[in-house]
Amino acid sequence: MPKPRVLATRPLFPAAQQILSAGCEVEYWTRPERIPKEELYRRLTDVEGLVCLLTERVSEELLRAAPKLRIAANVAVGFDNIDVPACTKRGVVATNTPGVLDETTADFAWTLMMAVARRVSEGEQLARSGNWTGWDLDQLVGTDVWGKTLGLVGFGRIGRAMARRAAGFQMKVLYCDAIRAPLDVEKDLKAECRDFNTLLAEADFVSVHVPLLADTRGLFDAARFYKMKPTAFLVNTSRGLVVDEAALVHALESGKLAGAALDVYENEPFIHPGLKRANVVLAPHIASASLETRTKMAVIAAENVVALFRGQRPPNMLNPEVLKTR
Ligand code: DGY
Repeated sequence: MPKPRVLATRPLFPAAQQILSAGCEVEYWTRPERIPKEELYRRLTDVEGLVCLLTERVSEELLRAAPKLRIAANVAVGFDNIDVPACTKRGVVATNTPGVLDETTADFAWTLMMAVARRVSEGEQLARSGNWTGWDLDQLVGTDVWGKTLGLVGFGRIGRAMARRAAGFQMKVLYCDAIRAPLDVEKDLKAECRDFNTLLAEADFVSVHVPLLADTRGLFDAARFYKMKPTAFLVNTSRGLVVDEAALVHALESGKLAGAALDVYENEPFIHPGLKRANVVLAPHIASASLETRTKMAVIAAENVVALFRGQRPPNMLNPEVLKTR
């Protein structure tokens, strides 16, 4: 019996390759640039499985180009790049990689928060510039993180991982979420539930941990920035489109916000020039980028693909109804 054909838009990691090659005949896109859309569609004509990144759009159009496709396995927990209803309509299983990147992402959100509060980028630049004239009393003074109020917008796995870190910094933790957390979780994490606007008014650091959905798109707009303290900082490691970048730039320029630390952008890899300011720390979407975690993500995507072709249920299905109808 011929093995099912799978296309992976990146070489993945050896551990994931091993899993895939045991059950499938795999073709990898290995060139350094992203696979061009036309090339991707051409290679999909005959393929039953796709392992893709969040930079590829699994759209109705892509699905039309892939008539034999049975699974689209995203190497990411966020799946706003996948049109799940369109996959379901065509009987294509869509999967993601939840659960393995929470702590790594929270580590990085914490890093960004510390970096913007304590002016690490500016300090690094000065240290490397050859212009540092030595210690001075008011040199690059920043803002304390410890003892402040952390506002978590989204209190799922990553939001909760942030709350655990906050305990070590003696911070007060507020959160808002569409669904209130169970009382034992609130008690355990010493996290207090607030409505969104109250959280914005009370927090010194607001960290975003919501998925990109219709009702979170543009969640942080001019009105929201207006509600925040002028001494507050915004940290975003979720999705760029949750924040209206033009409104953020305006809030920063007009002093309505003390600063921001961002890992994600509205239109990646483009970064709004107005964000390239001293009180903004910028990272290139790397919050989950530890070798351990990225390897686990690739392995999970591979396991999802292999499970389907073995006649099993892929562990991380976004549209379980596809298999119910078979
Ligand atoms: C995700 O998984 O959604 C991140 O944005 C990339 O790790």
